[in-house]
Amino acid sequence: MSHADETHGTRRDFIYYATAGAGAITAGAAVWPLINQMNPTADVQALSSIEISINDLEPGTQITVKWLGKPVFIRRRTSDEINEARKVNIDDLPDTLARNKNIGEATAADENRSLDESGEWLVMMGVCTHLGCVPLGDGAGDYGGWFCPCHGSHYDTAGRIRKGPAPENLPVPVAKFVNETTIKLG
Ligand code: FES
Repeated sequence: MSHADETHGTRRDFIYYATAGAGAITAGAAVWPLINQMNPTADVQALSSIEISINDLEPGTQITVKWLGKPVFIRRRTSDEINEARKVNIDDLPDTLARNKNIGEATAADENRSLDESGEWLVMMGVCTHLGCVPLGDGAGDYGGWFCPCHGSHYDTAGRIRKGPAPENLPVPVAKFVNETTIKLG
């Protein structure tokens, strides 16, 4: 490995590295959706802000990174997922608020939760708003989004609670695009 590699690692290394950190905090969660195979002992320092490369993410896939000791889901949604999320009547939602730290108080419209205007990118804390388990992703649950098996909370493709005991939508943390392939948390 060259000196440069040792210092910076590759993008892919970083994603796996971050995932490993998230994998280490699963105590209490029923199931952890991403099993790290690269370096299970690696951990990520709890930095107040981190940058994540999203270069390798195809539509319909997601990564989980550890940030401030908690998992964060970064999903690149398909057009079907976006359409599904955008056709929902806000008044039918158990929690009608956006829960998005990047904007002021707003409704839970999908446009108020996704990171970009087209709605392709969704960034959320991966912590169930019921009692804090890590929900399963990749189309899980009755609404094709995330499902928390601990007590059966179903979240939709925008991470909004639709069914089950969780009281609030999955929160959207402070996040922004640094460039086309990098998202900064915090
Ligand atoms: S912690 Fe998720 S449903 Fe109870």
